[in-house]
Amino acid sequence: MRLPDATRMRLPVRFLRGRWPAGLERRLARFFWDDPRVILDDSAPPSAFRTAMNAIQVGGTVKVTRADRHPDADALLLDNLDLTDAVVVDIGASDGSTSIDLIRRLPAFRSYVIADLFLTIEVLTARGRDFFYDTEGTCVLVCGPRCVAWPTRSALVRLLYAPLVAAAARRAGDRREVLLLNPTVRSLMATDPRVTHAVHDVFTPWPKPAPDVIKVANVLGPYFSDEAISRALQALLDGLAEGGHLLLVDNGRYTGLEPRAGLYRRTHGRFALVARTSTLPDINSLVEDVRSDELPSAS
Ligand SMILES: C[S@@+](CC[C@H](N)C(=O)[O-])C[C@H]1O[C@@H](n2cnc3c(N)ncnc32)[C@H](O)[C@@H]1O
Repeated sequence: MRLPDATRMRLPVRFLRGRWPAGLERRLARFFWDDPRVILDDSAPPSAFRTAMNAIQVGGTVKVTRADRHPDADALLLDNLDLTDAVVVDIGASDGSTSIDLIRRLPAFRSYVIADLFLTIEVLTARGRDFFYDTEGTCVLVCGPRCVAWPTRSALVRLLYAPLVAAAARRAGDRREVLLLNPTVRSLMATDPRVTHAVHDVFTPWPKPAPDVIKVANVLGPYFSDEAISRALQALLDGLAEGGHLLLVDNGRYTGLEPRAGLYRRTHGRFALVARTSTLPDINSLVEDVRSDELPSAS
């Protein structure tokens, strides 16, 4: 089954579910989309929030995630490391659903940071429509009474929506910021001070002090060139101290693929494989090639 992804649509406009005659919706099911405005509802059920996140496409990547997505990958951490008192950083965590899964399985930990480059989005409501803007102020999504459209995904859609987007731009001061974290994650953060969130770019080393574990799931492989992935891996290596661990997870873009994960330990300024699922992440050879400038490589 394919995950919904507007990057694959020839014409990135969809009808909103529940706003059209049921018969039409049944017949043209693949042209219908769940209302992304669920992310504006603080009390949205976690699964509805996750579904709504499928519409958010920023920085050339998608926010698609699922609950219970990395059980085997997380087991690599739990089975091989003593995480008591560990500082864990989860980069590219989307709405934090998979972070919660791991947090619930951790025996004890000192802190867990749910990090992502795109943790917020700006929203403006004007004339019955909601306009969503990325961090650069570009309108990436328009939700009307009956349709949803992604203007940055097609020149034609951009042109069609240009008058609406231009009219909305005149009210830029009315934009509000929305945190793209699942309501369950937000309530956990409100009650457990060990769990926090941070904006972080995977291409930048994690600021000191170095965490014990960095988890990066479904961020690098699907979206970036090998050269960019190597740069990200270099930053990840530089963000860890000797003995620190990286958990890399790659579920592939489609369901039904066997998840691939590797747990690596920073040793002598490079990543050494500690444990793996039956299939390694596609980018394993890039992981093995990266070297730190701070330490000479092991001979
Ligand atoms: C497909 S989601 C993966 C979510 C979750 N880790 C999982 O496996 O279900 C990819 C996430 O990476 C984030 N992302 C994209 N570029 C990033 C970057 N340069 N630094 C940090 N996060 C980034 C996106 O915002 C998105 O939330």
